[in-house]
Amino acid sequence: MCGIIGYSGDKNAVDRVYSGLKRLEYRGYDSWGIACIDEDGLHIAKDVGKIDGIPDELSNTETHLAISHTRWATHGGVSKENAHPHVSCDGSIAVVHNGIIENYDELKTDLEKKGHKFKSDCDTEVIAHLIEEHSKSKGFPEAVRAAAKQLKGSYAMLAINKNANELVGAKKESPLVLGLNGGEYFLASDVPAFLEYTNKTVPIDDGEMVVIGSKPVVKKISTGEEVGKPMDTIKWKLNQAEKGDYTHFTLKEIHEQPLVLKETLRQNKEKLEQVARMVNSAPRVCIVGAGTSRHASLVGRYVIAELTKKYCEVYMASEFQYFVEKLGKDTLIIAVSQSGETADVLLPVKQAKEHGCKVVSIVNVVGSSLDRVSDVSLYLNTGPEIGVAATKTFTSQVTMFYLIAYTMIYQFEAGLKKLMSIPEMIEETISLNEEKTKKIAEYMKKRDDTYFIARGENFAVATEGALKMKELSYIHAEGMPAGELKHGTLALIEEGTPIIAICPKDHTYEETMANVHEAKARGAYVIGISDENSNMFDEWLKIPKIDYIFYPLLANIPCQLLAYYTAVAKGRPVDTPRNLAKSVTVK
Ligand code: M6R
Repeated sequence: MCGIIGYSGDKNAVDRVYSGLKRLEYRGYDSWGIACIDEDGLHIAKDVGKIDGIPDELSNTETHLAISHTRWATHGGVSKENAHPHVSCDGSIAVVHNGIIENYDELKTDLEKKGHKFKSDCDTEVIAHLIEEHSKSKGFPEAVRAAAKQLKGSYAMLAINKNANELVGAKKESPLVLGLNGGEYFLASDVPAFLEYTNKTVPIDDGEMVVIGSKPVVKKISTGEEVGKPMDTIKWKLNQAEKGDYTHFTLKEIHEQPLVLKETLRQNKEKLEQVARMVNSAPRVCIVGAGTSRHASLVGRYVIAELTKKYCEVYMASEFQYFVEKLGKDTLIIAVSQSGETADVLLPVKQAKEHGCKVVSIVNVVGSSLDRVSDVSLYLNTGPEIGVAATKTFTSQVTMFYLIAYTMIYQFEAGLKKLMSIPEMIEETISLNEEKTKKIAEYMKKRDDTYFIARGENFAVATEGALKMKELSYIHAEGMPAGELKHGTLALIEEGTPIIAICPKDHTYEETMANVHEAKARGAYVIGISDENSNMFDEWLKIPKIDYIFYPLLANIPCQLLAYYTAVAKGRPVDTPRNLAKSVTVK
């Protein structure tokens, strides 16, 4: 996954795309590049690493047309040559791209036969040469359209040509959104890229292209026919996409959870009732998500089963494709995704729709691809989540499952009332644990391995806690049902191995504590997350007492804080962990 932003307007285009690139770094940050056009022609600056200031070679350009890219490498290693933009042989056309061109080899061989010389190993370069080839017989936008028609795979791409005064974008299976601010136009992977200038947007759909000359025109790639598109006003506020006084977005987003949860609870009752009817009447319900969104789905399965007695299956999104063909009209899919752009979720969901399945999505990004393919979407309303590690959206996703479950048993109001008390308890949980987790982080930072255990509805909190620890601190972490420890992992416990035991005083307490005993007897250093202390714990992370079904919402908070402070203690780049990207739009 990568981030792209292009600009056409009366302000300095390099300034505009630079600020956009900084806001898109959550999508990838292996390398960066900018291309712009001024009176002297096309200028390019690119390098490996994160962009840090307007590049010297572009600082004096008087330009109103630019494209740019921040990369998360897929095809070709991380090098200056492979960084975007890529240019045509004659140096007149520059292209940036997010996605994967699957027929790259075939196209490249064909273009080489026609005399094109390639300079990189990156699949995107083929697009620049293709446009150049078509430019021999067509004007620039039509050459881009002809090139797009030949591409297999996924793309959101932007192109400029020093001989044309147009910014051209095209999209298939990777996100692209148009932003409008009077005479200023932006084409970007995501709204935060231009949110400081405008919240007026037009989401671009698969198979569409945008030509921005004096004003933007959206067309179908297949026919060139113009498409009328309604404009959306995004409710996100700029301060939601800024760090404020926090050292990291991740910490800000952890602290924002009480506030954000209140927004998640502001749901349209009729829409929830519609979803509840769909879940109640579906013979089979499959919940699909990746990473954190799957962990939230696992909690959701327990909550729905506990409150409504309905059993739902949870699929790891990347494996779901292997079951899709067996599904039909009797299946309801609940697709869970913060970004709504994760390819592992999106592609099988689209296939499932073709097999007649209905799709309900739980998404944060309104207008995202998943939102648009769904029959009904429930929005998390958390505002943008910038930290690569998901925190506040987990809490919101889990909350949405409570709302669905209570609505399924016709207790929407009663459920809402109970959930309204949670934000304050999360606040309390944060203040109970902030200093304590900072202290425990000093122990954690010296360890290489750690294990998170829990039972019942908290089991998924253990897997989520381990994921946060891994991606933020780079410490090896595994999360598992406490009962599984004795089936193999116990062999890895040595003197001092940290075990994070999520064991609130609920129906699973005694059995989880039995597993804690087993680990302790082998030398484990036990960090207990519970509403009650125990002499088994070396450290106690206290959570408030609450109705057992809601413990996952509280127990996850100390896990987030522990992972965060361990990462800080180890000097990790918390908001942008190595090798990761916020939304993964490739398979
Ligand atoms: O945008 P999505 O919720 O679909 O993203 C799914 C995963 O890629 C995401 O949760 C990932 O695991 C995060 N890095 C977790 O912190």
